[in-house]
Amino acid sequence: MTNVSIPELADFTESALDKAFASLEASAREAAAGLSGDEAVEAFRLEWLGRKQGRLNDVSSRWLKAAPPEAKKALGVRFNALKAVVEGLLEQAAGAGPSDASLKAEAIDVTLPGTRRLLGAEHPITRTLNEIVSVFAALGYSVGVGPEVETDYYNFECMNFPPGHPARDTQDTLVVANQERRPLRDRLLLRTHTSPVQMRTMEQQPPPVRIVIPGKVHRNDAADATHSPIFHQVEGLCVDTNITFSDLKGTLDHAMKALFGSAVKTRFFPSFFPFTEPSADVQISCIFCGGKGCRKCKNSGWIELLGCGMVDPAVFAFAAQKQPAYDPKKISGFAFGMGVERIAMMKYGVSEIGQFYAGDMRFLNQFV
Ligand code: DAH
Repeated sequence: MTNVSIPELADFTESALDKAFASLEASAREAAAGLSGDEAVEAFRLEWLGRKQGRLNDVSSRWLKAAPPEAKKALGVRFNALKAVVEGLLEQAAGAGPSDASLKAEAIDVTLPGTRRLLGAEHPITRTLNEIVSVFAALGYSVGVGPEVETDYYNFECMNFPPGHPARDTQDTLVVANQERRPLRDRLLLRTHTSPVQMRTMEQQPPPVRIVIPGKVHRNDAADATHSPIFHQVEGLCVDTNITFSDLKGTLDHAMKALFGSAVKTRFFPSFFPFTEPSADVQISCIFCGGKGCRKCKNSGWIELLGCGMVDPAVFAFAAQKQPAYDPKKISGFAFGMGVERIAMMKYGVSEIGQFYAGDMRFLNQFV
């Protein structure tokens, strides 16, 4: 270690003190800047803070002692400041962390259990929707989506609901305001079903088509135990040469068994939809009583689950305006549409549709 020393101080005016301390601080900083290794750090500590020979000790024993009484306070203040600087430099050089006290305050007990992150889970509607889609994906269907704000043309007209036709009244429609200046076909509404995406799909690609379309739909219905103004559907469309009603029956019978278990039976009941001819409602044997008859199936043994039918030639004619290959003389197809909430309620035994939307964790936690 070099023999440490500090210059003599004869002038104790404030400015002379400032100068003397500034020069000491500068050399402390310079010395600290180049420190590397424990030994060098220790040498720095001894040189500056050593009890007997350290420079700060020298400052107090020589400068402070020699100072006239009126300068002692000014000197003391500068001394303390310099000491703090040197200690700080030392701490930095030693890579010293926080003090013992603050270490203790921050100490963690590694034996305590950790904070558990709650795992998220699919909402029962999303889960059901995905399940339906994957049944058809496994049959080679692709998956598509379409807009929730739709035009009158796609939601109704091209699906063979002509303007003013009473069939429109079966789907109470929420319309976008201030559209009166537009031609009827361009007016916007919240789609009442996913069927318009059948047409959007056909306009985009010639046959063959096998597609399922999940999505959200809206109707101006009063909410009750089984109705909600917003709900979900999965639409299906299959178009090719020689598609028959048998294909429709076989496909949906398979899908219902995949969703509800292989013991489930299906039957097709005559119905009406403007965009299919013939049309049918698909009923499945009651999953609660196995078909014997119970309160859930109103003692009929059957539960109505979805609509379907052979695509009406009038619908193909609309598609053919953009894709001539949809010539009803050459191709045929079937379509179906099902309500996701209804299927989820059946699968999980939920009796109030509102439970799906209430965000009540006591309900949702059952699906984790
Ligand atoms: N779009 C119909 C509705 O919301 C459901 C439906 C019935 C879709 C028959 C179809 C179908 O594709 O063929 O009530």
